[in-house]
Amino acid sequence: MSRYAETYARWKADPHGFWATAAGQIDWISPWDSVQAKVDGLDRWFVGATCNTCWNAIDRHVAAGQGERTALIFDSAMTGTKARFTYAALQDEVARLGAVLQDLGAVKGDRIIIYMPMIPQALFAMLACARIGAIHSVVFGGFAPAELATRISDAKPRLILTASCGLEPGRTIAYKPLVDEAIELSPHKPDKVLLFQRPEVTAALGGSDVDWDSAVTAQRRRADCVAVAATDPLYILYTSGTTGQPKGVVRDNGGHMVALRWSMEAIYDIGPGDVFWSASDVGWVVGHSYIVYAPLLTGATTVMFEGKPVGTPDAGAFWRVISDYKVKALFTAPTAFRAIKKEDPEGQLIGKYDLSAFKALFLAGERADPDTVKWAENHLHVPVIDHWWQTETGWSIAANPLGLGKLPVKHGSPTVAMPGYEIHVLDEGGHEVRPGILGAICVKLPLPPSCLPTLWNADERFRQSYLSHFPGYYETADAGYIDDDGYLYIMSRTDDIINVAGHRLSTGAMEEILAAHQSVAECAVLGIADEVKGQLPLGFIVLKAGVSKLPSDVEKECVKLVREKIGAVAALKTVITIKRLPKTRSGKILRGTMRKMADKEDFKMPATIDDPAILGEIAEAMKAHGIGA
Ligand code: COA
Ligand code: AMP
Repeated sequence: MSRYAETYARWKADPHGFWATAAGQIDWISPWDSVQAKVDGLDRWFVGATCNTCWNAIDRHVAAGQGERTALIFDSAMTGTKARFTYAALQDEVARLGAVLQDLGAVKGDRIIIYMPMIPQALFAMLACARIGAIHSVVFGGFAPAELATRISDAKPRLILTASCGLEPGRTIAYKPLVDEAIELSPHKPDKVLLFQRPEVTAALGGSDVDWDSAVTAQRRRADCVAVAATDPLYILYTSGTTGQPKGVVRDNGGHMVALRWSMEAIYDIGPGDVFWSASDVGWVVGHSYIVYAPLLTGATTVMFEGKPVGTPDAGAFWRVISDYKVKALFTAPTAFRAIKKEDPEGQLIGKYDLSAFKALFLAGERADPDTVKWAENHLHVPVIDHWWQTETGWSIAANPLGLGKLPVKHGSPTVAMPGYEIHVLDEGGHEVRPGILGAICVKLPLPPSCLPTLWNADERFRQSYLSHFPGYYETADAGYIDDDGYLYIMSRTDDIINVAGHRLSTGAMEEILAAHQSVAECAVLGIADEVKGQLPLGFIVLKAGVSKLPSDVEKECVKLVREKIGAVAALKTVITIKRLPKTRSGKILRGTMRKMADKEDFKMPATIDDPAILGEIAEAMKAHGIGA
């Protein structure tokens, strides 16, 4: 029998009491005045309290006599490296690195950008920032210099922490030239770059660059945990908005710790000493919350994996890691399972490994399609739990809380609202719709602990983006419905965000890049269905009159431009030249119709289309690129 209903009701009856009890799992330096209150018009948690996130993630466990427990297991399928760090070893690494950062001038409140591959030093870096009260901003290694530059100029970091290279199957990416170019592009310049040399590619250091290993090895001092306000930012994580300017999601210290610690046992059924593996990247929110902070706050063992679900070396990589380290629960994106299923449809590689310690699979980051969930259930024989959340929240809005007792699974649904979230499905006028009817999914304010209090240096953008459309609610920008049993179904985004292999990307940002090409008069980018990645971007361009270049050349230049400006991760591989974009008589581009054509879905000729003949021409152009009917 699940304790979910009772737990949710307890939260609803006394939200402050509920979170104050959960806060008992955290060490506070000084207590709060209010569990939750408005500060400068923004909802804040544990107002008046002081704390340190690094203390709670590391030192607290060492002080409790658990220093010899494994905190971190690192496994690189790219280099064959394996390493283990106890909580005591992690404390030493992080306290030393913290002292190095302080010697480089970093103080409480400074921003530090971390642009690193999936190596233990990335985790040390995040925790070292938390230790000294600096605000980290991790930038995913697959982003190009222009994206990094945008984040540098917005966050204005004192330091940038990086490594000499990232490793992708078949290629090595030298990071230093990318960092140098980004600094060149940004009006703000950091004081120093601290660089960790990886043996696969070493970087030449310039005048303001510092060698990581020498600095840490030479460091005699260990940085203490600095007291910060519970409401001080722990990190900024930039995520795609509807323009080329990403949104700097702010995460606080106190509320974040409380919600994550609660989620680990209630949702993931992971307690102290359990081994948890989140196969994501520290550049994404899943990596922040469930590679780094939540497992360590819980005193569990976290696994950090550098590699891919397939091709490193095969579709058995996940089973190998689960078996080698006795992983109790794995968290990944459905796309990883679609990739495995494609390579090993019968799941034959699973049988090669001992998965007896493995108890549950968690999927999030994009819609978990029922076929993939069923495949995983049939082959792994453990609960497969879909859960729904966003960079903005840092933890589940809806889930099936395994630790409270699993609720019946309904394929296609991430199950029910977690305590802290009162979910409403609203129509355009802000009225609640009936069960089964599609609408905008909104959360009644205030948002629970860990959710963004605001956007970095952009309170007004925060209000405009999330709070203005439906007064009194947070607008998730996801559309969906709730069924008669209270189960939630997430169907699509209401904005221009697409989800490519679990990576959140803005088609608007890609359109800005295509529109800036000198031969392009107009463009549209849409997300079309992809068997493995869930969605892929597809670009359409209309050439300016008098352009003498071949359309196919302009198309290739556009693909290259998006890769250069956003990064390989954008995965825009196809751009199609058409004569005109289909529009309504009022000038709105008919993106939905084009998407249905590309996805071979039935569609009605829109009554408001200005020129019906154009759709036939577009169908022909798509066909020439192997897309659509
Ligand atoms: N640094 C540099 N480049 C990177 C990168 C990184 N950290 N991560 C990805 N890229 C590049 C890839 O090399 C690839 O380049 P290519 O176009 O030259 O091949 C491109 O970005 C797209 O990468 P990816 O989305 O990873 O696609 P893929 O085809 O290489 O692999 C999957 C497909 C499904 C195996 C892979 O996407 C995957 O493992 N997904 C899991 C998703 C995930 O963890 N999401 C996090 C949210 S929970
Ligand atoms: P990100 O901020 O990168 O985590 O992306 C958040 C978005 O991913 C959400 O707003 C959804 O659109 C989508 N998403 C995440 N998890 C799920 C899920 N379980 N089901 C459906 N969509 C999801």
